[in-house]
Amino acid sequence: MCAPTGWSANPDLVRRLSELRPGVIYDETRVPSYILPDPLVCLDGSRVDSPEKWRDKRRPEILELFRTYVYGRAPLDRPADIAFETFDYEENALNGRAIRKQVSIRLTKSDEPSIDLLIYLPKKPQPPPIFLMLNFWGNHTINPDPHIRIKSRPVFMPRGEFFLSEESRGWDRSTPLNKILSRGYGFATACYNDIDPDFHDGFKNGVHGVFDRLFGERRPPDAWGSIGAWAWGLSRIMDYLEIDGDIDSRHVILLGVSRLGKTALWAGAQDERFFMVISNTSGCGGAALSRRRFGETVKMINDAFPHWFCENFKKYNDNEDALPVDQHMLIALIAPRPVYIASADEDLWCDPRGEFLAAKAADPVYKLLGTEGLPADEMPPLNSPVMGRIGYHIRSGGHGITEYDWERYMDFADKHIYSRA
Ligand code: GCU
Repeated sequence: MCAPTGWSANPDLVRRLSELRPGVIYDETRVPSYILPDPLVCLDGSRVDSPEKWRDKRRPEILELFRTYVYGRAPLDRPADIAFETFDYEENALNGRAIRKQVSIRLTKSDEPSIDLLIYLPKKPQPPPIFLMLNFWGNHTINPDPHIRIKSRPVFMPRGEFFLSEESRGWDRSTPLNKILSRGYGFATACYNDIDPDFHDGFKNGVHGVFDRLFGERRPPDAWGSIGAWAWGLSRIMDYLEIDGDIDSRHVILLGVSRLGKTALWAGAQDERFFMVISNTSGCGGAALSRRRFGETVKMINDAFPHWFCENFKKYNDNEDALPVDQHMLIALIAPRPVYIASADEDLWCDPRGEFLAAKAADPVYKLLGTEGLPADEMPPLNSPVMGRIGYHIRSGGHGITEYDWERYMDFADKHIYSRA
């Protein structure tokens, strides 16, 4: 029997997508040649040859490059007036299987903007590790539990009214809550629109509307975009998790899908309190290498979502080779903490190979810091996860998160929390 070969895209799918959108690269043979910036060479040309030099010099330098040219800079850290109010505590939620808490995180002295955080915890003698993820449509959409508060918010998204209605409870079935709890993990979630509505209004709504004045008269070209704002919000959620004694806050596992996968990587890169970071089909501006221009490109994402990144990022439209960073360096910023990158077979828009190659190109940093890195030289076959300190899989199916993905993430978390790998 032959050894299984690594993944490659289905040629019929490549043909079909290429015909549909001739301006988009879906065919590996059309990927331009490129040279990645070396994560282990500093801007002054010196080599990073020790963990100390990584920590003290190169890591801060790369963080600063991402702030300046990609996601933008948040104008503040933790706001002075942040307040946490637990407005719901139920010891016998989900038919007695779990503890449920709901906490309002106020970011200023007034009521808005505020983040509704929903938490389920398994009933265990010890505080459990917890998965934290932002959701798209509201906390009440992730489970039919009738006690989840439907937070009112301005209607700006497609089907916005529906997502404020009772009918939308449990609408998003992608969170296998019972399975998560039965494997001993807690689950915490908040809607990303609570932090910054995903809608371009010239940065007037959400946290931009409140805190951008700290920049002074004019928004600078490196001011935070929405991804930066969502990532900042995740750190504010972490501020709460740290003080909740029912949670093992040393083991908060940050997970994000799609645009929220991009967000999870950026939040995890900046905030080292997150123990582990998981990017699920995050694609362009997430785990995929921009220089490959495969699937969605920098120009396409900036044109379609002008509010996601900072203004400076637009200089790299059709000009990826000039970027001082690429996305492998974002993954490297998470080192030596565990990071998992997951792609999907039919999701060529996200460039699965570009996601794998970025994980692989982060490996030298993980190795320098004394970890195993990513134990694979080539892309693994479909549904064959690889798990070192960097994990990777590509599963069958399309964009989004599935139960298969969740199971692998819990395997990966088990490995790093309980086997001390
Ligand atoms: C669009 C966008 C992607 C993004 C995705 C999502 O497809 O082009 O960059 O990841 O939306 O967040 O659902």
